[in-house]
Amino acid sequence: MKRSLISGLLLATMTFAGPLASQEAADAVAPEGGTDGQVQGLTAEVIASLEAKLAGEPVTSQNWMVAAANPLAVEAGAKVLRAGGSAADAMVAVQVVLGLVEPQSSGLGGGAFLVWYDAASGKLTTLDGRESAPLEATHRLFQDENGEPLKFFDAVVGGLSVGTPGTPALLEEAHRRWGRSPWPGLFSDGINLADEGFLVSPRLASLVENDAERLSRFPETAAYFLPDGQPLAQGQRLTNQAYAETLRIMAAEGSAGFYGGEIAAGIVSAVRNAPGNPGVLSGTDLALYQVIERDPVCATYRVYEVCGMGPPSSGALTVGQILGMLNGYDLAASGPEDIRSWRLIGDASRLAFADRGRYMADHDFVPMPTQGLVDPAYLSERGALLSGEAALIDAGPGNPEFDHASNWADDISLELPSTSHISIVDQYGNVLSMTTTIENGFGSRLMTNGFLLNNELTDFSFKTHSDGVPIANRLEPGKRPRSSMSPTIVMQDGAPVLAIGSPGGSRIIGYVAKSIIAWADWDMDVQQALALPHLVNRFGTFDVEQGTGAEGLSDALTELGYEVNARDLTSGLHAIEIGDMLTGGADPRREGIALGE
Ligand code: GLY
Repeated sequence: MKRSLISGLLLATMTFAGPLASQEAADAVAPEGGTDGQVQGLTAEVIASLEAKLAGEPVTSQNWMVAAANPLAVEAGAKVLRAGGSAADAMVAVQVVLGLVEPQSSGLGGGAFLVWYDAASGKLTTLDGRESAPLEATHRLFQDENGEPLKFFDAVVGGLSVGTPGTPALLEEAHRRWGRSPWPGLFSDGINLADEGFLVSPRLASLVENDAERLSRFPETAAYFLPDGQPLAQGQRLTNQAYAETLRIMAAEGSAGFYGGEIAAGIVSAVRNAPGNPGVLSGTDLALYQVIERDPVCATYRVYEVCGMGPPSSGALTVGQILGMLNGYDLAASGPEDIRSWRLIGDASRLAFADRGRYMADHDFVPMPTQGLVDPAYLSERGALLSGEAALIDAGPGNPEFDHASNWADDISLELPSTSHISIVDQYGNVLSMTTTIENGFGSRLMTNGFLLNNELTDFSFKTHSDGVPIANRLEPGKRPRSSMSPTIVMQDGAPVLAIGSPGGSRIIGYVAKSIIAWADWDMDVQQALALPHLVNRFGTFDVEQGTGAEGLSDALTELGYEVNARDLTSGLHAIEIGDMLTGGADPRREGIALGE
């Protein structure tokens, strides 16, 4: 039954007749090297996991599991877990390798949000390692001399967009709280791969080629990604001695070696001397950076509590709003092939995005109706707006219960997809869900000490006011830009049952909500839920995933009154279901895998 439900919508590119040959599966992520013909470092387990993904099957295990965007990073995490490390230890190893092999998406120069289920206490908590705005930044940072917003890429590329990185401090804080393995050893795989080289993946090669002009603007970035003026080629062996040295310093000195000393000086110099577009990040910003522990935000969906990252992320609130509004509708009955399901999901998402644009920002700086936004009575009232038969004509913000007087204008900030997601369960029962980013693909394009610097500040609204009314997500010194990252742990009866998250800019929210619905209502296993083609509606236009069965719903959506846009929707979902055993899935749209024992 499940198989027939999904088959009508399945990605055209995923309709394989059966398991691929091992070499073919390996080539899908890490092709042969130019000279020795060997697939680098891919073990039999990795190849089996790739085959499972390509065949649309989940991976199962009993003790631990790790799912992330690159097999080399997953293997680094698996080694740590196999040796008795915790999910927090494994995350450090995974992140350190991702920053090398998937540098365009996340790394030490960026920020992250982590959701943690602690098996010993039975509690959920979150860590906010989001980048912060430099103290010298003004709210007019992304405006020209006439107060007009800069063009997006004029703001992104260079020093102006660089926020204070949070990821190194987050790694250290997670390890300090929940680590079991010695810190220095967690850097070994990253150091070895950076020293000895790794094979450039097809995804990295094609993204470098597409972005070659911007990458060529800064000498250190160009030398790494465009050696001899040519984009890195797929399968080319790439070393990164500067990154190896950065990792050695962090392994020996912890995050103090990053936020002070030569690495910090290199960051400040790269930002403040960026040719054509210098920024304002200073040594003081780096020295003052703090990870913040925050309560999770949870919303009830069916028999589950869907929990994730609250402000400054809009992730858990917006995912929670979408699901909460759908509580009153029987999506299990309508199923994934019925247009009514997608109308409900799409318009719930539009209503949630209207609230997001009006109310959501860093609540350390602006008052927010955080609890009011996921209050069941409010969501039931908003959900009642979906009871018609056609697309909502108007999907404006609502009036959640607010304990402060406030008046905000709607935000217009743009987020383009990059980012990476890590899900891990360890043998002690701890669960980690972490989404990590440098924002745009290749971030600000500035590179120092072997890693790229983020452009996270462009997640702020470039406009500060609309018709004289302030915008909640405007830039302020020290503030953290609103995010869409939605690292999620789904709970049932007080126990974790699913860890999930994705990259994808503000479409992250739709990818995560859809996958939870597919898993909870449509009885799909995690691999099926992630592979199910995307239909995403944030601001009115229905995006349907090009080249998949979703395109077949275009005419019906048009008849309901939507504008439809067929396009690539490159999520990077990684999920682990926690039941009698662990069941993991990796998004077929990216290069990742799930691995467990
Ligand atoms: N920069 C992507 C996000 O935070 O949503």
